[in-house]
Amino acid sequence: MATITRRRALAALAPLLGVGAASRVLSSGEASAQDATATAVGGHDGHDAHAGANGAYEHASFRRGGRVDHARNGFHPSALVRDFDEGKTTRLASGRVLREWELVASEKEIEVAPGVAFAAWTYNGRVPGPALRAREGERLRIRFRNATHHPHTIHFHGIHPADMDGVPAQGAGLIQPGGTTVYEFDAEPFGLHLYHCHAAPLAAHITKGLYGAFLIDPKQGRPEADELVMVMNGFDTNFDRSNEVYAANSIPFAYMDEPIAVARDALVRLYLVNVLEYDLINSFHLHGNLFDYIPTGTSLQPSELTDTVMQCQGQRGILEMRFPHLGKFMFHAHQSEFTELGWMGFFDVCDDASDKLVCDLPGTP
Ligand code: CU
Ligand code: CU
Repeated sequence: MATITRRRALAALAPLLGVGAASRVLSSGEASAQDATATAVGGHDGHDAHAGANGAYEHASFRRGGRVDHARNGFHPSALVRDFDEGKTTRLASGRVLREWELVASEKEIEVAPGVAFAAWTYNGRVPGPALRAREGERLRIRFRNATHHPHTIHFHGIHPADMDGVPAQGAGLIQPGGTTVYEFDAEPFGLHLYHCHAAPLAAHITKGLYGAFLIDPKQGRPEADELVMVMNGFDTNFDRSNEVYAANSIPFAYMDEPIAVARDALVRLYLVNVLEYDLINSFHLHGNLFDYIPTGTSLQPSELTDTVMQCQGQRGILEMRFPHLGKFMFHAHQSEFTELGWMGFFDVCDDASDKLVCDLPGTP
């Protein structure tokens, strides 16, 4: 069993950023010699990654060798970022749409940084859980099964009756191991919401991975766009109530390794949710551009044009932007420590040539 402390995590990840020439990554062997709770997994090569003058750009070898095993995790951040789960729909006798999902809580080890396994609790085998997407006014039904060894719930943000709130001692209350329940309520109001477990101790249940985005589209929809979803999160890999790893959609630096390709001048809409535990705030900062911001997504009109937004835990909002320039543009938390521990990525703004994005033009990094 091995641990990474916050400081050690920073040292391990520092070569990515060129901030620590003396740093290197824990090899599996090293990791197993250390005291603690996060188990080393995978077979990365214990690289001596040396920081170069240009920082992160020079560490492709480290990042290639040091990537997490997405296939083993069962989810890939590059897929998650465009993955919305619309469930199954039928019509009620009234003609109204009934939208249904099945969510299963399960225990699963996921590799949250190269060589660092985390004993997660997941909804449907992934962290974050599926980005549930509905339309204003529909009837929603979520069948929940708890396949873990601990009691859990699903608490949805939004407007619903007290017995559908997914908290202990109300309605079905805590769902015991092996237990099931059905949460059912109307999709209101439109906006970007979230769901998460509400069993005690709450911080532990959230940091273990039981959360996801919950999107209710307005009846009339929004203008067509390239739509993305990011849940800002982190992992406390040694259970010291502070995070060793930060990310959007769980895997540190995933969008550095594989930038998110978007078309020049196209409308990009990002659904951004913060569930980060233990740190009071999180943020999203965009390079080389500004975005319109719709707090909680509950309006059709943005309230702000900015390049940085701050969200406390549970806050969320919609960002809309168009990139006029080709090339790679960074996004990251504007808390530098989070950035250095994984919460950073790139948009790759590409030419949209007959429906095919042409990226990596000469002269871009
Ligand atoms: Cu729970
Ligand atoms: Cu909440």
